[in-house]
Amino acid sequence: MSNTNTILDSTTGPLRSLLWGGDHLVMLDQRLLPGEIVNLKLYTPEDVWEGIHSMKVRGAPAIGIAAAYGAVLGANSYPGDVSAEWVNHVHQTCAYLATSRPTAVNLFWALDRMKLAAEKLASGNQNITSLNEGLLAEAHAIRSEDEEVCRQIGEHALPLIQDGMGILTHCNAGGLATARYGTALAPMYLAHEQGISFKVFADETRPVLQGARLTAFELQQAGIDVTLLADNMAAMVMSKGWIQAVIVGTDRVAANGDVANKIGTYGVAVLAKAHGIPFYVACPLSTIDLSTPTGADIPIEERPAEEITEGFGKRTAPSGVKVYNPAFDITPHEYVTAIITEKGIIEAPYPENLKTLFAE
Ligand code: MRU
Repeated sequence: MSNTNTILDSTTGPLRSLLWGGDHLVMLDQRLLPGEIVNLKLYTPEDVWEGIHSMKVRGAPAIGIAAAYGAVLGANSYPGDVSAEWVNHVHQTCAYLATSRPTAVNLFWALDRMKLAAEKLASGNQNITSLNEGLLAEAHAIRSEDEEVCRQIGEHALPLIQDGMGILTHCNAGGLATARYGTALAPMYLAHEQGISFKVFADETRPVLQGARLTAFELQQAGIDVTLLADNMAAMVMSKGWIQAVIVGTDRVAANGDVANKIGTYGVAVLAKAHGIPFYVACPLSTIDLSTPTGADIPIEERPAEEITEGFGKRTAPSGVKVYNPAFDITPHEYVTAIITEKGIIEAPYPENLKTLFAE
């Protein structure tokens, strides 16, 4: 069962990517923003899989949160009363949800956490109702921890934002991509709260336009000074001296500090280096994957050709033309000035410093 309604919950202020509705997941359909605000009610893991796959929810942390609730919906549908079978059922649901998108490691991180929670709960021999309640509590914890962690990322990055600065960002690593605040956008929200005056330049982010539809939208809603750029304008604005920092999010950081993020990020990093502009990557620890040695080992999602040839319903290329549509690229670690996490700001050498971060 799946249906929609068009409510904007005015009591919660800004839009929320995901909320729990009691027996269903409320997912804001980000494909329709900024034109329409539609909250989908999702009742099954299949609904959640489709929501992630089709990018109704997107952004690494938000994908992980959605998958965690997808695991809950799967667990709730277990018809029996044998806890070991219930654990198997949760594992199968998680394996299925893990196939929804390949690049953002937060998806696998959240599902691993849900599987572990299921095993721990079942070892306590509870009845199925309390097992389901325990699993829901774990999904809630993943969601609320993400909100807290994003705020901490914002606090660590706040000193990087000073009066009069111009900041360029690519894609959407804002509240819509997380439980709240975002990663790259978190320091911007905090700086704005503190009355610091700065300008954000948002790349529109071809081909799905997360920068135009989502970043420009959420910053404008928050009253932050945002200017939208087509992707090919970043070099021009940098050469004019309008940009003092680039801040982006990421879908996965490899053990050597290479960063996977939305296609086009690598180009922005190269441009930043050419103009002597620092290039910062903001992410929670759950996005850092020490089991992936380098960027070359990160699976890069390829998406349908239609996103490029007839994005948003209008054909802009000859039919039958060959298309290459990778959704992400890898920024080599030597272009990354620093990685901002909830535990603080990490600089090169990344292999050592990332390892230390997890050892602490
Ligand atoms: O394809 P998307 O929209 O899911 O890509 C999102 C990004 O590339 C974000 O920058 C990244 O997930 C970080 S979100 C805090």
